[in-house]
Amino acid sequence: MKIFITRIIPAKGLQLLKDAGHTITQYEEKRPLTQEELIEACSRHDALLSVGPNKLDETFFSRCKHLKAISLLSVGYDNVDVAAANKYRMAIGNTPGVLSGATADTAFLLMLAVSRKAFFLSNKIGRGEWGFFEPTAGLGIELNNKTLGIFGLGRIGMELAKKSIGAYNMNIIYHNRHHNEVAEKELGARYVSFEELLRESDVLSVHANLSPETKGVFNANTFSQMKSSAIFINTARGGLHNEEDLTAAVKNGTIWGAGLDVTNPEPMKPDSPLLTMPTVCILPHIGSATMETRDAMSEIAARNILAALAGEKMPHAINP
Ligand code: DGY
Repeated sequence: MKIFITRIIPAKGLQLLKDAGHTITQYEEKRPLTQEELIEACSRHDALLSVGPNKLDETFFSRCKHLKAISLLSVGYDNVDVAAANKYRMAIGNTPGVLSGATADTAFLLMLAVSRKAFFLSNKIGRGEWGFFEPTAGLGIELNNKTLGIFGLGRIGMELAKKSIGAYNMNIIYHNRHHNEVAEKELGARYVSFEELLRESDVLSVHANLSPETKGVFNANTFSQMKSSAIFINTARGGLHNEEDLTAAVKNGTIWGAGLDVTNPEPMKPDSPLLTMPTVCILPHIGSATMETRDAMSEIAARNILAALAGEKMPHAINP
């Protein structure tokens, strides 16, 4: 069978597909494919391993009905119209679980970096602004015994909660669609209303899927309900927050600061005012970017494709 991969992926997954005797085409240009280019490439292939935010919507599915297997190289699937996939009876694979630790590390890194203004202070060195020692300058805040609020307490949120308890004895509160009984029992996490989450969190970290219900939930209105000392962290999807509102909230001191691994839009514009703010740390969507995790993701995506091509159920799929 012929498999189209939209970007270069780690050797581990690639090898699995090759070992199974399939013919692989990897798109190697360093730019996203247009939807038309994607559909055209798919017309010459039997399976698609989709990397990046390729739009898999009604147009795509209606014109790529011949595909026997589709897997994403991500856990997030906000680029997929699941109803359209179901309508065309296309199962879509994804890569949950293996990236939880790495993504939680990124949230942890941002939380700590923002609390100590790390990126801003580090950038000063390169500008020759490492001046004389001032006991009242460059001060951050400590995380010990503070309250970590988690919006969407699934696998990644659980990992972050464990790290934050271990490192800083943080008190965990969360808001979810459902109660997370394991988190309540094992981590002492407390379920709270969305309003309480906003009001009580010293650090509020977002780990929910982007969906019509969660789009833009962090906006001027919600930031205004948070503590002025609060840190907002988003490693999920940029669409969950309103970036203009976030910029204003940090600038006006409505909240203390923000750490983002995801922005809206992506890539973030280099002239974003957020990039110059002392209490803001931004990373370019590297949540799962470790060698171990990307290897594991490529392996799961490859196994999803192999299973579907063999007429079997994929190990991980977003729809039944
Ligand atoms: C994911 O897996 O969803 C990561 O954000 C990479 O896109």
